[in-house]
Amino acid sequence: MQNVLVTGGAGFIGSNFVRYLLNTEMQVRVINLDALTYAGSLENLQNLPGPARYEFVKGSILDRELVDEILQKFDIDTIVHFAAESHVDRSILGPQAFVQTNIVGTFTLLEAARQLWVHGGSGRSKRVRFHHVSTDEVFGSLDPDDPAFSETTPYAPNSPYAASKASSDHLVRAYAHTYGLPITITNCSNNYGPYQFPEKLIPLIILNALEGKPLPVYGDGQQVRDWLFVEDHCEAIRLVLQKGVEGETYNVGGGNQPANLEIVQTICDLVDELRPDASLEPRRNLITFVKDRPGHDRRYAMNIQKINHDLGWSPRFALADGLRNTVAWYLDNPGWIAAIRQQQEYQGWLDKNYNSR
Ligand code: NAD
Ligand code: TYD
Repeated sequence: MQNVLVTGGAGFIGSNFVRYLLNTEMQVRVINLDALTYAGSLENLQNLPGPARYEFVKGSILDRELVDEILQKFDIDTIVHFAAESHVDRSILGPQAFVQTNIVGTFTLLEAARQLWVHGGSGRSKRVRFHHVSTDEVFGSLDPDDPAFSETTPYAPNSPYAASKASSDHLVRAYAHTYGLPITITNCSNNYGPYQFPEKLIPLIILNALEGKPLPVYGDGQQVRDWLFVEDHCEAIRLVLQKGVEGETYNVGGGNQPANLEIVQTICDLVDELRPDASLEPRRNLITFVKDRPGHDRRYAMNIQKINHDLGWSPRFALADGLRNTVAWYLDNPGWIAAIRQQQEYQGWLDKNYNSR
């Protein structure tokens, strides 16, 4: 791993990964290709370590010419593919972008990699890797007593987002099977941590709690997710790049099963503690149950035995510690929040998603 193309590196997980990689791999050069959609921001990439080893290219993974040019110009040997439309609620209100970016975009990258790495000669395919970053949502929804998802659980995606990610996973797998493209895939559970765009549950609740706004909980709030601190996800991907077996997929998760309501209550208590305000406390009183998401998956859970046994990975951050770090980060970074909120589409999205609930 020398010249690494990160796609979607201006988004939440991608920007954390760029920072993590520059910090941990001193010989690596990172090229970040990001279209800077509403979800991506250069604010997430301020003060990177090793700036001389970092290059940003604004552009789309759908632009084949640009992707070809980057692969050649920077002699890319590793692609870590994060770029995607990633918000389930947006996929329900507007699925088309998900099909374009997540399916056609992944296809475009795969084609470019196949052309150069598999058919480009010079034994290149021996020392390259296409790593695809995916989600647990491809497996569908679990009942309370069902065993956790493993790498062999059949795919049963329920939302347009999950279906588009499942499609992209299948394409990646097929390119390995048919063309011998050296790939790995990680399917990870819900991430949280610094730089997450504040329309996803955890940052949205932190900011609303801070400002004394209603805290919208969908349905009965008893949906269960498996939460992973973003730095743990970055470490898992790095290990898979270094030690993962070509062609394999690895499930990644935090090993916890809180209900959404519990997460929201914990955030309320943390904000009460870290930013006391008698006029707003207890912030649990701000919790407001709103109309449920259509087709809302009830429960996700990840079996992480494979990555634990084969690569020695397990999460370092317990949920309580990760949540405390995250709340503290949002409280400590009002400048980032202000800049991100200027993003034109942000208020429009909040109105669209919540006004009619
Ligand atoms: P995000 O929405 O925060 O960031 C996505 C990034 O992709 C943005 O910077 C955006 O500008 C960029 N992008 C979108 N379309 C693009 C295009 N056509 N070309 C280039 N760049 C484009 O997403 P995230 O939460 O950081 O998720 C990153 C990846 O991880 C996604 O593939 C997602 O499916 C996967 N994932 C996310 C989670 C999670 O909890 N957030 C969990 C598991 C897997
Ligand atoms: P989200 O962060 O959108 O992630 P995902 O849907 O990919 O799991 O949502 C996490 C959970 O929180 C999910 O069960 C939906 C729920 N949720 C709410 O209850 N209220 C909200 O305002 C949002 C955005 C999500």
